Amino acid sequence: MFGLLVIIAIIVIIALAVAVYQKSTNAICMSRRRLEGKTVIVTGGTAGMGLHIATDLAHRGARVIIACPFKDEGTNARKQIIHETHNVNVSFKLLDLASLKSVRQFAADILETEDRLDILLNNAGVSASGDIPTADGMNIVMQVNYYGTFLLTLLLLPLLKKTGKPGESSRIITTTSVIHMVGMVNIHNLDKMNYWNKTNYWDKTRIYGNSKICLVLFANELTKRLKNSHVVINNVDPGAVGTRIFDSINMVYGTILRVACLLFFKTPWQGAQTALHAALDRKAGEVSGAYFKNCKISSAVKRAYCDKTAKALWEESVRLVKLTAEEVDQCFKSL
Ligand SMILES: *[C@@H]1O[C@H](CO)[C@@H](O)[C@H](O)[C@H]1NC(C)=O
Ligand SMILES: *[C@@H]1O[C@H](CO)[C@@H](O)[C@H](O)[C@H]1NC(C)=O
Repeated sequence: MFGLLVIIAIIVIIALAVAVYQKSTNAICMSRRRLEGKTVIVTGGTAGMGLHIATDLAHRGARVIIACPFKDEGTNARKQIIHETHNVNVSFKLLDLASLKSVRQFAADILETEDRLDILLNNAGVSASGDIPTADGMNIVMQVNYYGTFLLTLLLLPLLKKTGKPGESSRIITTTSVIHMVGMVNIHNLDKMNYWNKTNYWDKTRIYGNSKICLVLFANELTKRLKNSHVVINNVDPGAVGTRIFDSINMVYGTILRVACLLFFKTPWQGAQTALHAALDRKAGEVSGAYFKNCKISSAVKRAYCDKTAKALWEESVRLVKLTAEEVDQCFKSL
């Protein structure tokens, strides 16, 4: 009994120390850049951190396209952003990253209707919903967080390429997570990672971590493939943010985690700051393949920089999202 109390006390002390550290290092995006004439897409820009990001960018005068799979949430968010910012140039479009078909439809619509794309914020994600397979036969967490984002980014590249200019690259910013540290990509067994569906808490966290380390590997591989273009891709680690993302774990855990994050770590507004920094800061637009944390360049775990893994993952991803070689070539041509 006494031992247990000591352990609890130690945990509380560590938690408080972490909280004080986190709260005191929470950085804020200081950029005063305006975005008139620019177009941005924020996936998941209809709630939580994404809504704060979209609202900030609308304040700066951008044309803002928010996307999510829920019509009501989307139309309400659009109204709210317009109401708050008086920028009427805000659209909502349906996008379900868990469906390859939906991603293709969304991208085709954007390529057809938009003249430019300055910033693509891959902010949408689901947490540890675990072992649910999608209609495309992938693990839902892997597909929403990684494969769907991979496909969307590639399909929008021609417009990003058309928009990026010397001295002002167009930017792809992808939200990853500190949990990428538990992620592990085994290039000899990518299938196992993809279909990993044993149910228990650690495994679910692991799937989430896998999806996030894949995003870092993707950014590194795409950076190489975009050399000599005016498109950059960077990752942001928002820190532990209290949003509804945890609800998909389970209501009780989700609520506890959310409240813990709000108390100890970041609010959604605070969580949005690093993505805004990567989207707006002049110097942040001059790097690619960087990992931002607290509005500064930091780094992911070492194995996220393995060229061989990144290349193998790229090839497997192209196959799984069913892109043909010709389509991949098209993605790298400017519109
Ligand atoms: C909306 O934004 C686009 C891109 O920034 C711009 O070209 C267009 O003029 C804006 N439209 C309105 C109605 O403000
Ligand atoms: C996991 O999913 C795969 C394919 O989605 C299925 O074939 C397999 O039976 C599942 N395994 C378990 C343990 O549920």
